[in-house]
Amino acid sequence: MSTDLFSPIALGPLTLPNRLVMAPMTRSRTGAADTPTDLAATYYAQRATAGLIIAEATQVSALAKGYPLTPGIYNNAQVAGWRSVTDAVHAKGGRIFLQLWHVGRVALQSVLPDNALPVGPSAVKPAGKTFTGEEYVTPRALELSEIPSIVEQYRNGAGHAKAAGFDGVEIHGANGYLLDQFLRDGTNQRTDAYGGSEANRARLLLEVTEAVIDVWGKERVGVRLSPFSAFNDMRDSDPVTTFAYAARKLSDLGIVYLHIIEPINSDHIMAVPGVEPIAPLLRESFQGIVMLNGGYNKETGNAAIESGAADMISFGIPFLTNPDLVRRYAENAALNAPDQSTMYGGDAHGYTDYPTLA
Ligand code: PHB
Repeated sequence: MSTDLFSPIALGPLTLPNRLVMAPMTRSRTGAADTPTDLAATYYAQRATAGLIIAEATQVSALAKGYPLTPGIYNNAQVAGWRSVTDAVHAKGGRIFLQLWHVGRVALQSVLPDNALPVGPSAVKPAGKTFTGEEYVTPRALELSEIPSIVEQYRNGAGHAKAAGFDGVEIHGANGYLLDQFLRDGTNQRTDAYGGSEANRARLLLEVTEAVIDVWGKERVGVRLSPFSAFNDMRDSDPVTTFAYAARKLSDLGIVYLHIIEPINSDHIMAVPGVEPIAPLLRESFQGIVMLNGGYNKETGNAAIESGAADMISFGIPFLTNPDLVRRYAENAALNAPDQSTMYGGDAHGYTDYPTLA
């Protein structure tokens, strides 16, 4: 039998029963003080048959937040909230990582403590409008002396994630958030050790990864990258050089997986038309497990694994709308249709009430 989505795989010390990963998705339903609610525990536990769940992007400090109603992982109340989530997933036999997040320059100022100015590598204002329809503000470039505190915020979040009972963590290096803002030269115009060459632009990502490995061990740390995504007004003059370097250095650090967003559908939210796929190159640069994301379904996911392009595939909307996605794919059952109006924010409707097969 060939290897496909339904083949088990070892992920560091974990054995996953299949290679279908629930991708991290912001659902904007967090309770007071950025603490996950019991509804989040129900939502994730419903999806515990995934080979791995990667929980939604979660700010590593109050200053790392960008949007209303997203969760945090920097205090004991948040640890307790997340503990109910991990307990519920484990009780159903599942495995769950947490995605560690700092949004950097794209934060809504109104969600930051004391209305702080968002920070980024450089004072480069994102084009376009925030989801609330406002202009972005021009961020403040982080001082060189502040960079260690950013690394410490991730270390602190990683430690709290461990206390909350996660099986591991994913560092969010994608989608135009802080670490990606440092990586790509459209947003990074620094002239110090954190800007300029690809090695300098990758320095913050690599320092954060080392700090998180200190807490978790390399076998429980993954990193997510989105080399070509233009989401959040991102660009790089030479993505192949930038991301091949990052993948090689992450490989040297020995992280357990690299999660690459490379849309295969042109209507995908992260799609950029007319670019050559970069994942095959990154696979050559990275010795660990490669997880691909970007509009896959059962057929294309199986094909990517069978061809050796990927070891695992993460699915966003399909897991959002189908708690029993693994079973549905196994049985070739129809999928529930997504309801766009309940994706961000709201209550149990569109969150925990997508039906399972009888
Ligand atoms: C979002 O809230 O829309 C969002 C969050 C994290 C991502 C991408 C999108 O990586």
